[in-house]
Amino acid sequence: DIKACIFDLDGVIVDTAVYHYKAWKRLANELGFDFTEEQNEQLKGVSRVRSLQLILGWGGVTKTEAEQTELATRKNDWYVDMINQMTPAEILPGALDFLEACRAAGLKTALGSASKNSMTILNKVGIAHLFDTIVDGNHVSAPKPDPEVFLKGAEALGVSPTECVVFEDAIAGVQAAKNGGMKAVGIGSPETLSQADLVVSGLDKMTIEKLKEL
Ligand code: G6P
Ligand code: MG
Repeated sequence: DIKACIFDLDGVIVDTAVYHYKAWKRLANELGFDFTEEQNEQLKGVSRVRSLQLILGWGGVTKTEAEQTELATRKNDWYVDMINQMTPAEILPGALDFLEACRAAGLKTALGSASKNSMTILNKVGIAHLFDTIVDGNHVSAPKPDPEVFLKGAEALGVSPTECVVFEDAIAGVQAAKNGGMKAVGIGSPETLSQADLVVSGLDKMTIEKLKEL
């Protein structure tokens, strides 16, 4: 039986994926190159440092570790400027309703995000109270597709991995859920998220009934 839902943040609850993309694109452009939206898919769910390394690789650019730290900080400063402007209006369609429906159905809820900025975002959009536990980039050492972030969430909720459903927009995130022995609902396109047990275009298309059928 499903006892808990674990939600990724960026691209599932809020559309911060767009802000990450804008900030990385700006950085790449300053370094003299660009990358495609298709390449951007590979950055979803991927840590800040690893994302930078992938982008530098695409541009054929080599940077020292100190330079990489500076570049990652520059990107994050732009990103933080954008998320500091966020309002509850930026919660993705259906996310609030589905979170509340889960809680009303007696299911536990957790956040499982690679982001170190997740508390800022949750507070800005006013939904931190809807999660029984929050596990993010400040608490984990192994990045998705390692299941650490979701396993820590399950542990904090006192449920077993097989009793959890993970909601993810990232290929690496869906893989992390499956690697952890959990059910995965992909948020996005079925072509991209083919490893998920179910794919919906957004949480507005998700119901407790569909959850029970997984
Ligand atoms: C999420 C996003 C990634 C982002 C990562 C780290 O997983 O999907 O695009 O790189 O979090 O976010 P942060 O806010 O710590 O840079
Ligand atoms: Mg995401």
